[in-house]
Amino acid sequence: MNNILTIAMPKGRIFEEAVVLLRKAGYQLPPEFDDSRKLIIEVPEEELRFILSKPMDVATYVEHGVADVGIAGKDVLLEEERDVYELLDLKISYCYLAVAGLPDTKMNDVAPRVATKYPNVAEAYFREQGEQVEIIKLNGSIELAPLIGLSDRIVDIVSTGRTLKENGLVEYERIVDVTSRLVVNPVSYRLKDQKINDLVKRLSDVVEVC
Ligand code: PRP
Repeated sequence: MNNILTIAMPKGRIFEEAVVLLRKAGYQLPPEFDDSRKLIIEVPEEELRFILSKPMDVATYVEHGVADVGIAGKDVLLEEERDVYELLDLKISYCYLAVAGLPDTKMNDVAPRVATKYPNVAEAYFREQGEQVEIIKLNGSIELAPLIGLSDRIVDIVSTGRTLKENGLVEYERIVDVTSRLVVNPVSYRLKDQKINDLVKRLSDVVEVC
């Protein structure tokens, strides 16, 4: 049986913290993890293979079974609703999703517009609030939208709050806290349960308690 475990890792902010956590858990990860453009990194000594994807795509790779497990932000899991199991809160890369906009402005009464990278989360949130909004999907630099009159509000990640502040925007409501999670493909979990449970155990031992 194929004994290699394939782990989908999100490139970008979460990546470094995830690598630190895996090393703390005792996995010997080569220097390629610190400075490389490689998209697949094999670590045969640990029987591991890593694929480096866009954060939004991690759960897609896991759902399709080309990765057995993955590290994905709760924001992505809420937005994508992929058929994967969430096994562990890694408590890294803490941030939250919030509604923000220009200060002292009301939402337009007629067809208020909300720009976001998270159309599903935003839609569900405003529906729960009983507000009908038009969602405008953007792929990044969401904070631009209210500054140039594209939207009344944005729904976006807030981490340090610097981007909002430096662009003169304020937070109106906090939607949900976000940390990174370990997710697994349901079939992989059945076939490689020992290896995956070992990973979960080793990671839970080093996850910071907060
Ligand atoms: C994220 C997010 C905010 C910013 C928040 O963007 O969309 O713009 O970080 O971080 P802060 O509160 O620490 O300022 P990212 O840098 O991932 O790039 P993006 O604009 O392409 O989404």
